[in-house]
Amino acid sequence: MSGLGDVLAGRPPVPDEIGADSLGRPVATAGQLSARLRPAWAEIDLGAVSDNVAYLCQVVAPARVCAVVKAYGYGHGSVPVARAALAGGATYLGVALAEEGHELRKAGLGAPVLVLSEPPAAAMAMVVEDRLTPTVYTEKGLASLLAAVRARREESPVPFPLHLKLDSGMHRVGADPETVADLARRASAEPELHLEGVFTHLAVADEPDNPFTGEQLACLGSVLARLAEEGTRPALVHAANSAGALFHPQARLDMVRAGIAVYGLAPASSLTEDPRVRPLRPALSLKARVSYAKEVASGGRLSYGLRYQLGCRSVVATVPLGYADGVPRRLFEVGGEVLVGGRRAPVAGTVTMDQILVDCGPGANVRAGDEVVLLGRQGGEEISAWHWADRLGTIAYEVTCALSARLPRIYT
Ligand SMILES: Cc1ncc(COP(=O)(O)O)c(C=O)c1O
Repeated sequence: MSGLGDVLAGRPPVPDEIGADSLGRPVATAGQLSARLRPAWAEIDLGAVSDNVAYLCQVVAPARVCAVVKAYGYGHGSVPVARAALAGGATYLGVALAEEGHELRKAGLGAPVLVLSEPPAAAMAMVVEDRLTPTVYTEKGLASLLAAVRARREESPVPFPLHLKLDSGMHRVGADPETVADLARRASAEPELHLEGVFTHLAVADEPDNPFTGEQLACLGSVLARLAEEGTRPALVHAANSAGALFHPQARLDMVRAGIAVYGLAPASSLTEDPRVRPLRPALSLKARVSYAKEVASGGRLSYGLRYQLGCRSVVATVPLGYADGVPRRLFEVGGEVLVGGRRAPVAGTVTMDQILVDCGPGANVRAGDEVVLLGRQGGEEISAWHWADRLGTIAYEVTCALSARLPRIYT
């Protein structure tokens, strides 16, 4: 079996069988490229992930980097991405759910894993069993963690780490300053627990000039000052997401929790050309091979609803992926394009569940088997997740997260 080390070191991969993680999602390596059954795939450049993390480490040093690999690594595949992020210098991993942390442990990853929101009481046993670091912001959360820690079966237990989360103004999850101080006091009084971290989350870090980030950091600072008065100084104070890490030096603190930048994407469309973002390389390309191509007469109308009409005789290519793979159904309506033969060509008609049509133009030399790039580069052209997002009125995060379980992931 070819290992990630081989892939990262550029050694030729040995073909593996197509595998699946325990959630049934395909886990593939570069060696499976020729073995795959389906001519549609997301290609993930793990070298780009490692390089992006190495860049972040350099930018935020001496702060450390927690690579956020929740939501199946933003659609890229959490386990391979986590390995590549650790190889690039990340020392912590971040997930949304205990189950996601469990996947990392099952794959043999031993790095610290922060569960970014307070796990429900029912998940605390898994948190403790898998040595995940829980976030806590309620009395109930602290009590259920303590109960799970007390029930653990380890012979010589060490104090179990937790991070407290402060709501400094985003009002999604987190405790108010008073409650954080109270929880810190209680956690510090329990010999079975270790208050490793205190953190908050920034609401507008992707608007570098917005003063609200400063207000949130000031709120965190006042809570830390209060804890310090009581003799508590957690080792890991953190606030920054990718935008915080890149655009707000004062937010870097002891650790940054970077997600989107790990995947090589800007935190906002308006920031894609910023010099602090430009060193990042998008890790994901979405590709397929033409399954069928033919000339269609001028006036021919295409796909469900017959909503695209050819102005002249044209070569129409069928590409075998659709909205069941995460290609938004609205991509046609918003003027979506693909790259084929090194040129941009319009998505021609309604995106269907398993297939899209592309108008390759009159006399185009496009045949079954030709590579089509929906996201990524071909020739001198590029379509990025932010191109889709801008057209669709969403964000690049949603574009990559929406790529479905059915789509094979190929790692290079
Ligand atoms: C608590 C928390 N920290 C960090 C991140 C990473 O954010 P980003 O992908 O913008 O870097 C997220 C993602 O939503 C988050 O919820």
